[in-house]
Order: sequence, then C-alpha cells, then structure tokens
Amino acid sequence: MAVITTVEQIGEFVGETVTIRGWLYNKRSSGKIRFLQIRDGTGTIQAVVVKKEVSPIAFAASDTLTQESSLEVTGTVRADSRAPGGYELMVRNIEVIQVAEDFPITPKEHGPAFLLDNRHLWLRSAKQHAILRIRSHVIQAAREYLNREGFILFDAPILTPTACEGTSTLFETDYFYGERAYLSQSGQLYAEAGAMAFGKVYTLGPTFRAEKSKTRRHLTEFWMLEPEVAYAELKDILSLAEQLVSHLVLSVLTHRTEELRVLERDESKLKSIVPPFPRITYDEALDILRQQGVSHEWGNDFGTAEDTLISQQFDCPVMITHYPLTAKAFYMKTAPDNPDVALCVDVLAPDGYGEIIGGSQREDDYQTLLKKLEAHKLPREPFEWYLDLRRYGTVPHSGFGLGIERTVAWICGIRHLREAIPFPRMLQRIYP
Ligand code: 4AD
Ligand code: MG
Repeated sequence: MAVITTVEQIGEFVGETVTIRGWLYNKRSSGKIRFLQIRDGTGTIQAVVVKKEVSPIAFAASDTLTQESSLEVTGTVRADSRAPGGYELMVRNIEVIQVAEDFPITPKEHGPAFLLDNRHLWLRSAKQHAILRIRSHVIQAAREYLNREGFILFDAPILTPTACEGTSTLFETDYFYGERAYLSQSGQLYAEAGAMAFGKVYTLGPTFRAEKSKTRRHLTEFWMLEPEVAYAELKDILSLAEQLVSHLVLSVLTHRTEELRVLERDESKLKSIVPPFPRITYDEALDILRQQGVSHEWGNDFGTAEDTLISQQFDCPVMITHYPLTAKAFYMKTAPDNPDVALCVDVLAPDGYGEIIGGSQREDDYQTLLKKLEAHKLPREPFEWYLDLRRYGTVPHSGFGLGIERTVAWICGIRHLREAIPFPRMLQRIYP
C-alpha cells in the first residue's frame, strides 16, 4: 500500500510512490499520454498517465474522467522545475470514486450572478481557493498575534438586547418573550465587560448589519475581530492597530506566496506595509479633500468616495483620528480638548479598499455615558449592565474592530467583498 499524502506535502516523497485523493481539475491528452490536473484541497498537481505503464482498465478510466470527478491516484513523485508547484506524479494506478455529472463551472467566463448561485461549487476554482486560504491564514495570524500579546479570546453573544452601531442597521428577531432582540452588530460592548475582567481580550465572530446599501464593500453578515484593552488610551490602540495589520500582511507574504501568485497580487505594494502608519486628524483629511477640489461638510462621516480620495495619498494604511462626535457611535469618548470630536480612529487601506478598522477610546464616565445614550435616543434599560461597567471600577479603555473580509479583499487585491467569505450574505443574496 502506498502512503497517502497531500499535494502540499508531496515534496517530502520524491522518488517514492504515494496516493493523492482528490478531484479532476482539468485534463488534456497527447497520443498515448494523459495529463490530469488533480486538486486535493491543498493544491494541484499534474499526474501523467502513460498507456504502457498502467493497466488497460486504469488507462481507460483516465478517459472517462470528467471535470470534478473524484479519484485516488497512485504514482511516483518526480521533481520537475517546469511543473507548477515543482512536482509531478507518474501514475501507476487510478481508482475512480465517482464520474461527475457535467460541472456547471467550466474554464469559460461566467457572470457573477451565475457564479454566486453556484458558490458551493465555485469555491473549488483556483482563485476562490486562493482567496479563502488567505482568509484562513489572516484569521490564524491575527489570533497568533493577539495570543502572543497576552490577549484572551472572549466570545461575545450573537443575540443581543442592544444596538451598538446605531439603530438603522439592526436585524430584529421575534423570539424572546416580551423582549426585543437583535443580531449583533459588534461584539464590542461585551468585549468591554471582558476587558474589565481580563485586561486584554478579543472577540472574533460574525456580525450583522441590515444595511440597505448595495456596494462592493458591504456585506449583511461579516466577520469582525475586536480587541479591547483596559487602561489603554487612543494612542495605545493606534499602535496595536498598525502592529496587527502589518503582522497580518507580513505573515501572508511569508506563508501564502503561492496563493498571492495565483491572484497575481502586486507583492511590492504589500511589502511596503510597515509601521509607523501615517496618522492624520479628520480636519487634516478635510484639507486633503479640499486640495482635490472636494468640499465636505464638517460633521459628516466620510463615504466611499472620500475614503478613496484620502487613502490614495498614502502607500500604507492611513489612520484618521478625531472625527466629529455627530458622525460616530454613542460609546466614544469626547476629546478632552475639544467637545465636538471623538477619541476615535478609522484605518483606511490603500488603493481604495476603504475602512478596514474602526475603533475608539470608550466613554468611561457614568454620567457622561448616560447623556450620550440619551443624545443617541437609545433606551437605558437594555444598557444597564453596560452602565454597571462604569459604576464598578471604571478605567480608561479602548479597542477597535477589524473587518475580516475588507482586510482579506485588500490583501488579495480583489475588487468585491463577496469573494472574501465562503458564503456571502448581501441585500439580494441568501442562496446558497
Ligand atoms: O466601524 P465599525 O462599524 O465599528 C464597530 O463595529 C465597532 N464597534 C468596533 C469596535 O470598536 N470594537 O466596523 C468595524 C469594521 C469596519 O472598519 C469594517 O472593516 C467592517 O468592520 N465593516 C464591514 N465589513 C463588511 N460589511 C459591512 N457592512 C461592514 N461594516 C463594517
Ligand atoms: Mg466604521
């Protein structure tokens, strides 16, 4: 019996006979030779079937194989610098598991609606495969970084009685007897309770925004990583944000080179992502817009167009601080030297990828927080527990949320967020 291995591990078996279990990605034939591109989830490899070196049954089988047929191939591993990945399999035997029906996704061009309807199958395509391997790596690298820095993973609930990011994008559920409940917009409020208990925590999970906007940067369900730190001020989480983001980029550059190659990502742009990131205030951002001939009213948040214009001025993500309070959420702390601005930050990725991080120092004073709840017309009752955090040993604290799909889309250099998550949920998309 040959040893069973994967395409990723195959370099350890040069000259040996191994079995790869996978699916047929593509094939071509030339006389008495069949070239099978086999993918096994970890990569693809070319398996060469020479008529006189396999049984007639195995050779005939190689002719019946359709795209995405499942099979086990046993063969001898050969190093070949011309082969993609550097290795080939000289086939000794083929075991067909299933001859697949006509696969809907062929190498020809398909429109996005068709591909999204077939997302469960589209995932197998080289580009999608590369993006989602990078997504997995980004999450792993983020956890690795935060764990190393002494953070505790602190899972926040998905069903919540409160709004965190404004009431206009809430998903309401009708289940809890006599009480309103919503799908979480952010784990932050719970992370704050966690920070008071553990010092440094992070949440990582799905979050929901019933956003009626239909843009390539908005998902209805997206994943967010939210570190929250007790005794941290705005400046402390600015450092954390730039360290974390540059760690993610470097880690992908180091460990996911093959995937970046498949995506034809310009790596030189990623290599220039090193701290310190430029820091500007909202007012300075307004100046940049003015220089570009765009007038933006003080007090309003930036939209996609403004974000793009500002971030185009920088090679690194730019950290914009001190937005007007009117543009931001209720929990942000007011700047001590200016009653109209918040101690907050948005981090905008370069090349028009938009906001990848939103964060702030939190209001830690009980009375001030009460007033902020009122000013935002939020009911006090469901926030009583949150107010308790200001009653019992309140301290300065800060945190931020990093959007996983925005970060992955930027690192991969893909236009649309929908490809940065296995099964995207958007205003007009719930299937599959
Ligand atoms: O700026 P946001 O709304 O901030 C918060 O939710 C804070 N409570 C986070 C915190 O301080 N702990 O969202 C944070 C990030 C954004 O910068 C963006 O990357 C991503 O989450 N994001 C979205 N990603 C995809 N689709 C959407 N509709 C998104 N809305 C926000
Ligand atoms: Mg934001």
